[in-house]
Amino acid sequence: MNLYLIELAYLLATALFIFSLHWMSDPKSARRGVFAGVAAMLVGVLATWAKPDILHHWWISIPILLAILPGVWLSLVPLTAVPQRTALSHAFGGLAAGLVGTAKYFYWFGHEQDMLTPFRMVAIIAEIILGYLTFTGSLIAAGKLQEVKWIPQRPWTYQGQIFVNLGAFALALLLGVLLIFMPDRAFSPVLFVLIILLSLNFGWMLVMPIGGADMPTVISILNSYAGLSAVAMGFVLDNKLLITAGALDGSSGLILSIIMCKAMNRSFFNVLFGAFGQVQQSKAGEQGQYKAETTEGAAQILEQSSLVVIVPGYGMAVAQAQHKIRELYDQLKKRGITVKFAIHPVAGRMPGHMNVLLAEAEIPYTDLVEMDEINPDMPQCDVCLVVGANDVVNPAARSDKSSPIYGMPIIDADRARQVFAIKRSKNPGFAGIDNELYFLDKTFMLFGDAKAVVGELVKQLTPGSGMH
Ligand code: TAP
Repeated sequence: MNLYLIELAYLLATALFIFSLHWMSDPKSARRGVFAGVAAMLVGVLATWAKPDILHHWWISIPILLAILPGVWLSLVPLTAVPQRTALSHAFGGLAAGLVGTAKYFYWFGHEQDMLTPFRMVAIIAEIILGYLTFTGSLIAAGKLQEVKWIPQRPWTYQGQIFVNLGAFALALLLGVLLIFMPDRAFSPVLFVLIILLSLNFGWMLVMPIGGADMPTVISILNSYAGLSAVAMGFVLDNKLLITAGALDGSSGLILSIIMCKAMNRSFFNVLFGAFGQVQQSKAGEQGQYKAETTEGAAQILEQSSLVVIVPGYGMAVAQAQHKIRELYDQLKKRGITVKFAIHPVAGRMPGHMNVLLAEAEIPYTDLVEMDEINPDMPQCDVCLVVGANDVVNPAARSDKSSPIYGMPIIDADRARQVFAIKRSKNPGFAGIDNELYFLDKTFMLFGDAKAVVGELVKQLTPGSGMH
């Protein structure tokens, strides 16, 4: 294929990637954004394949065909498993970048040593360090989120860990600098392999001390590492599309991490080295007594309200309760009750998690209200219905300086006149800490699976059944 056409295709793919990100930032255009991203990737792959210097088409077709199966399997995971699925994608991306860098180095070392210029060596070193550390780091992150038995979910820490970790990283960098200036000596390949081993080791060591609520942020940080390794790979292969797509990937991962850190009031340093989630053990039951309510009683109070605020959380996603919630919304609206959904930026397990689920149930966007906007209205709220949310409504974040979530902005559910909280047990949320909201006089628990409990509430409110 003509080289100009290939460059034009790369330009088109870059534009599609940019539009894809832009469209994905709004729920109304998000679907279009996904299609644009897929189209960009397809154009990029096909244009690269059509390059005249690609000779062994069969060798390329075989892995592509083999990769389709796990790809389809990965696309079928439930929405709740998307964070670990994303981590796996980053692991594969990191591994691919690392392997390409390795192959390029050894090829040039064996055949064209002139190619090992300092500039290319900087790119190769960056590519392999970022690629291999992303690979093992993302595998551990995926394993932690999937709750794989032999990987501790809680932070795994020991004294002086930060120095061991940073020491391993510094050593890899030092060897990298040596290699940049001496890429073609007899011992250089040994240095190269050492850098690979140190990077593989650093990746898993980086993620082991992180756990609990910080995991999704770590995944997003690993996303930006994978993007940056793709940028470096672009320089090694002299491929402009890889550079632009990698830069978009790297920067969007970084921006997302910053948004998440802000929403949890945590610094990057804290996320990477803070061993969050280990500080407090669950003390369920020590703080106070839970008061349970029946769905019949709750439905009566809901019916007499004028403003109901529903706070969805991870439990709504687990139970797939969004469609029942839509029915509840309809029943309440029919009675002239104002119903709003309070959306916390880190509710659930990924950004926009709640928006996606509520949009799936066709709840109008206009009734989805961001945390900062809904909080001033909470004192006027007659009933706050918490559906499978925990950390994002925990008042300890405002008042308890010793709490690991202290400083994280929350939805002020405790300022509503009355609270009903739906969850299955007395277990804590993702951060592993108790929630004093559940012990307040005004709070009543509706224990059970969110879908079943909301279904019961709907039944109670439906004319002809339950209380009517
Ligand atoms: P969580 O604090 O994880 O609490 C979810 C609650 O849902 C649990 O207490 C659980 O209690 C309940 N639950 C689980 N399955 C249920 C079911 N089938 N029916 C009813 N209830 C169920 O969730 P959250 O309030 O949404 O907070 C999100 C957490 O993730 C925060 O700590 C946040 O910092 C962290 N995080 C999120 C993100 C993003 S981007 N979303 C990023 C980083 C960190 P039971 O087990 O008793 O049912």
